[in-house]
Amino acid sequence: MRTIAITSGKGGTGKTTVAINLSLALAEMGQRVVLFDADLQLANVDVAMNLKAERTLQHVVADEASLRDVLVPGPKNIRVACGGSAIRTLMTAGPKKLALFFDQIEELASDTDFVVFDTAAGLDNRVQTFVQRAQDTLVVTTPDPTSVTDAYAAIKTFLRKEPMASIAVVPNLVSDEKEGETLHHTIQAITKAFLNRGVDYHGSVRNDPRVTVSVRKRTPLIELAPSSPAAQDLRRIASRVASARLTRQGLAA
Ligand SMILES: Nc1ncnc2c1ncn2[C@@H]1O[C@H](COP(=O)(O)OP(=O)(O)OP(=O)(O)O)[C@@H](O)[C@H]1O
Ligand SMILES: [Mg+2]
Repeated sequence: MRTIAITSGKGGTGKTTVAINLSLALAEMGQRVVLFDADLQLANVDVAMNLKAERTLQHVVADEASLRDVLVPGPKNIRVACGGSAIRTLMTAGPKKLALFFDQIEELASDTDFVVFDTAAGLDNRVQTFVQRAQDTLVVTTPDPTSVTDAYAAIKTFLRKEPMASIAVVPNLVSDEKEGETLHHTIQAITKAFLNRGVDYHGSVRNDPRVTVSVRKRTPLIELAPSSPAAQDLRRIASRVASARLTRQGLAA
């Protein structure tokens, strides 16, 4: 099982869009996926996907249900852990409670290939718990200079805590692949100069009006407009993320 945290420096860069559609694209490839709403402020994966969860992570945090009990079925056989404001409560709980919670995530490994965490923007200390626990981190940024600066600041904070962490940047709202590559080069030039290491790149996501329609219709992009430019981009990122995982497993073997 691989755990992937989707985060960003600044808010509103497209984390939830990437988390939902990456999960669905991985599922299309036959992977067993759990999408986990780990946003602190406003958990909204359920709203975006039009899911109704009778029980949420709130019940898990209150010891009224196990993590497995609150997973609700989503499209393409993914399972979703809806958040409420549970994560905020969890982060103020003691380390023992946090450890028990993460143990439950580990226990999903028996029937799960990927756990995708949709987190809040990354400069908050509490967000970093999820990022630190995840094996891979995708930092979503837009070409907006403040978004790039904040993405770098977040990456710096993550790497300070864990210098070997696997981090990739995902440029979103780009006009074409070239702009995405340039953004990756820009961020990588700074991380190489100041942190002495590069960051991965699995592709970028184009600005696509169908994303806005999908948000309005509460239907994930990959379902609503499977061949739209952004859906194609997200599928490509998913296949690269999955093959990066296989390579790493190969190296570990
Ligand atoms: N590739 C794209 N093309 C067009 N619009 C996009 C794209 N990605 C995201 N958006 C728009 O940006 C808005 C914010 O996206 P999203 O909710 O995924 O960001 P977020 O990072 O999860 O935000 P928050 O920090 O509030 O959790 C969406 O409502 C959507 O309309
Ligand atoms: Mg979000």
